[in-house]
Amino acid sequence: MSIQNTKGNLTIGLFGFGIVGESLFNVLNEKPTFGARVKRICIKDAEKPRSAPSSLFTTDPDELLNDKEIDVIVELISDSEAAYRFVSTALHRGKPVVSASKKMIAENLDALIALQKQTGTSFLYEAGCCASIPVLRNLEEYYDNDLLQRLSGVVNGSTNYILTRQAKDGYKFEQALSDAQEAGFAEADPSLDLEGVDAANKLVLLLVHAYGIVAHPAQLLYSGITGIHDADIKLAREKGYEVKLIAHALKTGGGDVAAFVLPQFVERQSRLAGVAYEYNGLEIESSLADVQFLCGKGAGGYPTASAVLSDLSALRYNYRYEYKKLTNAPSRLCDDYYLHVCVGARSLLHIPQEHFEQVEEWVSSERRCYLSGTIHVNKLLGTDWWRKPGVSLILYPDPISHEVVTSDLHEYAGI
Ligand code: HSE
Repeated sequence: MSIQNTKGNLTIGLFGFGIVGESLFNVLNEKPTFGARVKRICIKDAEKPRSAPSSLFTTDPDELLNDKEIDVIVELISDSEAAYRFVSTALHRGKPVVSASKKMIAENLDALIALQKQTGTSFLYEAGCCASIPVLRNLEEYYDNDLLQRLSGVVNGSTNYILTRQAKDGYKFEQALSDAQEAGFAEADPSLDLEGVDAANKLVLLLVHAYGIVAHPAQLLYSGITGIHDADIKLAREKGYEVKLIAHALKTGGGDVAAFVLPQFVERQSRLAGVAYEYNGLEIESSLADVQFLCGKGAGGYPTASAVLSDLSALRYNYRYEYKKLTNAPSRLCDDYYLHVCVGARSLLHIPQEHFEQVEEWVSSERRCYLSGTIHVNKLLGTDWWRKPGVSLILYPDPISHEVVTSDLHEYAGI
């Protein structure tokens, strides 16, 4: 189905009426000049009070999917299995889909790309990465894979909000998290934000549009901010750093891409340190242009709805992701590199020093111990000591190297 048949007016079937769905609904009502109306809204809980006429709501997905008048599906629900069912049914029926369900997309990327190819129907999800920042379509259309050297940035608004509140405003973690939930930044299951899953899902979306890499989030090295201790934030401040949760996709010397999401010390004067509260910020480095920086609101109802609106506009000219880099010399993930890290724990006995290639420094106090050194990524991918309660693993600025001078670790034995 071509939505150009509709003379520019879009008739939307909306799945989900959470903070983003409600914001989108309000914007479309306030701006009739946009030429789109929501005909029907499918929700899970019929009893919940809603701020839209009750006649719009249904709990039956088929009322949207079978409605011939509905020419676009907008999918904004948090249940990723249901989201995948609705999206794939809509695509099979030739209805273009706009979605913000990054978890569902990241976990089913391969199948969704195949489905777009098979059905020839658009599936757009700019809202799934960095909310209001136009990053996916830019990476897809503008940046050449060969020239793109690095993407690094803050891609999760909730954790950035919490870290900023802790560092700048002296909030306790629980208070900052509760505010992030209240403001509608956090996922329905906030552990997805806190444990880095949401950021890893977004990194999957960045990888395919930047480098043509189809990865599953489970393949990536990631963690969130649950291990970050107040003392780590204090240590960062003393060293002239801020702690941020940073996603990286870095081209290595051999051309493969190292992709990971971990907490990181960033220099206080750096661009990424300036990305505060629910904002996201992404550095894009290419061989010819050097570093560019995109920054904007990365969570919240209206910022996310703005990306959904942009995708709806793109559907007016039948825009589709072509995944050009996937067919044209895709890059590969790299699993052979070293990370420069600072590990904090209650005792140095909780840090397996034998896993490190090089130990530069260890500091032990009654409150917390720190070990700084270099570790191979495979020593983290296959283990979970660094994810255990009470342990924090924080990258240093310039976190990656491909070679290390191996030192004799015997002198550290028995710490
Ligand atoms: N929970 C997400 C975040 C929402 O905090 O970034 C936007 O994707």
